[in-house]
Amino acid sequence: MINTPQLRNRWYVAGLTEEVTDKPIASRMLNEPLVLFRTPSTGKVVVLEDRCVHRQAPLSLGEIVGDNIQCGYHGLEYDCSGACVRVPSQKQIPPGAAVRSYPCIEQQGFIHVWMGDPALSNSVVPYDFPFASNADWRVRYAHLYGHFDNRLLIDNLMDVTHLPFAHKSTIGASGVAEQAVAKTERDGDRVRITRFMEDIAPAPAHVAVTGYSDNVDRWQVIEYAPPGFVWLQVGSSKAGTGGREAAPENMLLDRHTLHLAMPETDETTLYLWVMANKADGLSSEQEDAIYDASVLAFNEDIVIIEAQQDRWDGAPKIDVGADAGALEVRRLVDRLIAEETENTKLHAV
Ligand code: FES
Ligand SMILES: [Fe+2]
Repeated sequence: MINTPQLRNRWYVAGLTEEVTDKPIASRMLNEPLVLFRTPSTGKVVVLEDRCVHRQAPLSLGEIVGDNIQCGYHGLEYDCSGACVRVPSQKQIPPGAAVRSYPCIEQQGFIHVWMGDPALSNSVVPYDFPFASNADWRVRYAHLYGHFDNRLLIDNLMDVTHLPFAHKSTIGASGVAEQAVAKTERDGDRVRITRFMEDIAPAPAHVAVTGYSDNVDRWQVIEYAPPGFVWLQVGSSKAGTGGREAAPENMLLDRHTLHLAMPETDETTLYLWVMANKADGLSSEQEDAIYDASVLAFNEDIVIIEAQQDRWDGAPKIDVGADAGALEVRRLVDRLIAEETENTKLHAV
């Protein structure tokens, strides 16, 4: 595998709110082992380096004692700042005994962790997905995992012409590749692809959810934000009824989803997902069906990207027009990494 740099001074997501309790859990981001837990007294999430400063056992195998975390090997205890506050076998704490602590923010169901210089954590805000905190929308989360570089997943999400081939039985339909009017644009540090497909066959999973099997107008608006967030606004309406502007009786699906492709290590990805459906839209049975079909489709992606990773030598051999969005993302991230490297040098002088 070719290890190429990733952005550091960014908020990454290391887990879901629903996963973090007063039992420590292990995570990993940018190759660094993390332990996440909630303090019993305040319920606040703490993220520390998951490596005891004594003999490097993972703290995630220990337990929470008071608001501290106790290593499960020889019992050293650390407070929420990562400072060692107790060594059971002696009175003195060795000078400098501490593990790294990471700034974290819990928001909209996600645990955002700052992986860069802690002094800069106020310079960037965590990714905002307002649908996850708005009562008009119902949300459901998924926690997936892939043995691949997270950038291959971002490429996958930025090129939905794979749908008719990789997702034949779920969300794919032939017109998605051939009949789209697509546009790629850069908007500050975001890359947006807008695709409209008129009068195409509906995808099998959508027929199963809506019961509507005639042709549809379908749209996909896909927006990347660093370091690994991809927001999809997707939907369909009965063909010829106005697409995204269709009247409610002609609207079939109108959804927001957020994919999080988080670089756990150079070759593994924490793949989180949240879907938001209008609270007064689909029934709970329809929501279950679309959730299950989506997760099935993502597992189809995971299978093909893991196989791709096995062959991946770091550089595509050819590009086609549909790669415009993914290539724009790579250019954007390369520029942001160059800026970050330059700023780090300036600070070091
Ligand atoms: S390794 Fe953690 S206390 Fe010894
Ligand atoms: Fe896919």
